[in-house]
Amino acid sequence: MAAVEPITLRAGDTHSTIAVEAGGLETAGARIAARWPEAGRVFAISEERVWALFGARLAASCAAAGLRLSHRAAPEGEGSKSLAQAGELYAWLADERAERGEPIVALGGGVVGDLAGFVAATYLRGVPLAQIPTTLLAQVDSSVGGKTAVNLPAGKNLVGAFYQPALVLVDPALLGGLPPRQLASGWAEVIKYALIDGSVPGLGGDPLLPVLRDDGAALRALREPVTSTVIRRCIAIKAAVVARDERETGLRRILNLGHTIGHAVEAAAGYGRWTHGEAVALGLRGAGRLAVRRGLHDPSLQREVERLLDAYGLPGRIAGCTVEELLARIGGDKKVRGGRVNWVLPAGPGQVVVRDDVPEADVRAVLAELGAT
Ligand SMILES: NC(=O)c1ccc[n+]([C@@H]2O[C@H](COP(=O)([O-])OP(=O)(O)OC[C@H]3O[C@@H](n4cnc5c(N)ncnc54)[C@H](O)[C@@H]3O)[C@@H](O)[C@H]2O)c1
Ligand SMILES: [Zn+2]
Repeated sequence: MAAVEPITLRAGDTHSTIAVEAGGLETAGARIAARWPEAGRVFAISEERVWALFGARLAASCAAAGLRLSHRAAPEGEGSKSLAQAGELYAWLADERAERGEPIVALGGGVVGDLAGFVAATYLRGVPLAQIPTTLLAQVDSSVGGKTAVNLPAGKNLVGAFYQPALVLVDPALLGGLPPRQLASGWAEVIKYALIDGSVPGLGGDPLLPVLRDDGAALRALREPVTSTVIRRCIAIKAAVVARDERETGLRRILNLGHTIGHAVEAAAGYGRWTHGEAVALGLRGAGRLAVRRGLHDPSLQREVERLLDAYGLPGRIAGCTVEELLARIGGDKKVRGGRVNWVLPAGPGQVVVRDDVPEADVRAVLAELGAT
């Protein structure tokens, strides 16, 4: 497989190399050894299902590069993003006498990436981190950008750190066995990138929306080279945003398109009812409809976006939530400043704006239109 230049993300004083390569898992050991030539060992953190699928290949590639590998596989699911699970991993690392120069390798979806990233950020005040994301959502979104976290009973992602992985190895060939809903969940974030790529200063490159529309069948079948091209484009968008605003004080907020309603739907319906991406898809529909009501967004473009969400297997109706519940969650979201909700709204192809003057009556109307009771 022809290698393409990796993407570089500079944020603060860190430097991440992000390589997208179908079949790239086989090169993991060599890449890790090249990045950390002094490290004789790596500590892989994964989850049971993912380790059963890919662990042996990661281990073989590390052995071939002269690296000793120890691993721990957490139970599958969001429940593993906990302080208790982090505690077990710290105990394991201490037992193994892991040292500052020895990298942690996260092999898994966003759950593993967030958990392993948090452990890497905090063990010995920070050990090197490599991410090998195995879900589409983790490949295009969560493995890049340095947000790490675990959950508390009081809420999701309440304890965490910004901590950039020095190496991200994205192998789209790992996605073939993903359950359809997990794949669709990733497509929602991909569609989100297609709605914001014109708002990223200095990004350049071809817009994503026409590719998603015209090559949909090939993408949904994960055919190459289009799948790698699209994943790479999403990562380039995220990297360009994070390089300008790592800590989300300004530009990075545009990545929250669809997430104001999305987070509310996820929490109100109970985590597990919708995948993250399914909730974001509902949020993208809602944000677009709000923008149409504000006169910011062309209704025919909104219809096109909603057709795209349908085509990628994403839901159109908010089932099982009331308008009141959702409004309460939206009001409590992290993106609220000074009592007003900061809405990221589409405003033309690839364009978004941040507005805090969306009337509650419009929000109620759109939520009801989408099926909230
Ligand atoms: N850090 C960030 O910036 C960021 C961004 C978005 C989401 N997140 C977090 O990511 C998490 C969700 O991540 P996710 O959607 O990847 O879910 P996940 O990690 O739970 O993975 C979803 C499912 O897919 C399975 N799986 C993973 N890879 C597979 C493969 N290649 N083949 C077959 N099955 C596979 C897993 O076992 C799991 O059942 C949430 O905790 C969310 O908060 C973080
Ligand atoms: Zn998201």
